Amino acid sequence: MSELKQTRRITVNIHYVWGKADSLRGGLYHLRTKDGRRRRPEYVTEFGVESFVDDECAILESKAFRNMARKTQVVTIPQSAMIRNRLSHVMEVVGQATRLSEALGLNTNLVRAASLGHDMGHVPFGHPGEAWMQGAMKRHDFCHEVMGVVIAQHIERRGRGLDLCHETLEAMMRHSGNLAKEGMTQEAWLLRYADKIAYLFHDVNDILDRLGYPAKPELLQLIDEFGDNQRRRTRTARSGLIIESVELGRVSFEELELGIKFQKLRDLMYEIYPKVIDQNVGATMEKLLRALETFDLADPFMLLALMNDTDAIYLSSVASPSMEAFKRTDLWEIRPYLAEIGKVDLCDPDLNW
Ligand SMILES: [Fe+2]
Repeated sequence: MSELKQTRRITVNIHYVWGKADSLRGGLYHLRTKDGRRRRPEYVTEFGVESFVDDECAILESKAFRNMARKTQVVTIPQSAMIRNRLSHVMEVVGQATRLSEALGLNTNLVRAASLGHDMGHVPFGHPGEAWMQGAMKRHDFCHEVMGVVIAQHIERRGRGLDLCHETLEAMMRHSGNLAKEGMTQEAWLLRYADKIAYLFHDVNDILDRLGYPAKPELLQLIDEFGDNQRRRTRTARSGLIIESVELGRVSFEELELGIKFQKLRDLMYEIYPKVIDQNVGATMEKLLRALETFDLADPFMLLALMNDTDAIYLSSVASPSMEAFKRTDLWEIRPYLAEIGKVDLCDPDLNW
């Protein structure tokens, strides 16, 4: 088949998928989560603002949210503003999740709140940093999904927490890894897929196009099948998710043709991710932990988990990290509260309420 015919065939397929998804508006409206449940029911939002809208605002105003601007997505402290950091990734997830939720008729306010908060628990250096923390803490249940919920409930607002709804916290916690469970809200399922749609296609831009990492022909062909740029690729993926979800009667994107292709694309991207991080994460984290133990300000693992990448790289670059150097980090501002909060189990989401 000539190159032109190949391009035409793909274009026609994409427009068919887009059109079909457009015709299925509101297909999961009957499964929409109606309202949120708070730990402190006496809490009333001002002016009667809807629960999940209030959650969204609380997360937007939190320190943990701002801290994500200095955390790794896949590239630590990118030299270009065009390359995603953790915060810009989160905002793209909000974009994907909002469109999907509106198309399916789910609770968009819940989806947006959980999307904004879903990655607040990332430690320095993203996933390699998290793997190091698990080993150092001897806690293989330590993960950013739970850590985000711990921050929201026990660290923000000097330990009083953000007062988020149970549904928001659950969706944040179950957004990736093996924490999904039967019976979780459709909005939580949607966030799992919206996160992947956002990161896989923006990472294609950052890792393959901007940084020039090599990719297998099989991966390049799969990417092309979704479209010839990020906007088209994500629309095709969203359309595939909408079609599959309405057909199966629940949010899903891994069983029908496009969903299977998307999962394959993800598997191939995961072969590239480990090659991108070039810091010696283990040695850096080890050095930071030793320094934080010496400072004796609060639980050193909690301090390390809350540190952003800019601080981590700065502090580890000092030959012998001193308290004077620590005072120049963003973490210094909240260390008095962390000392007051005392010991918190960083692996316990504390959602049994
Ligand atoms: Fe994410």
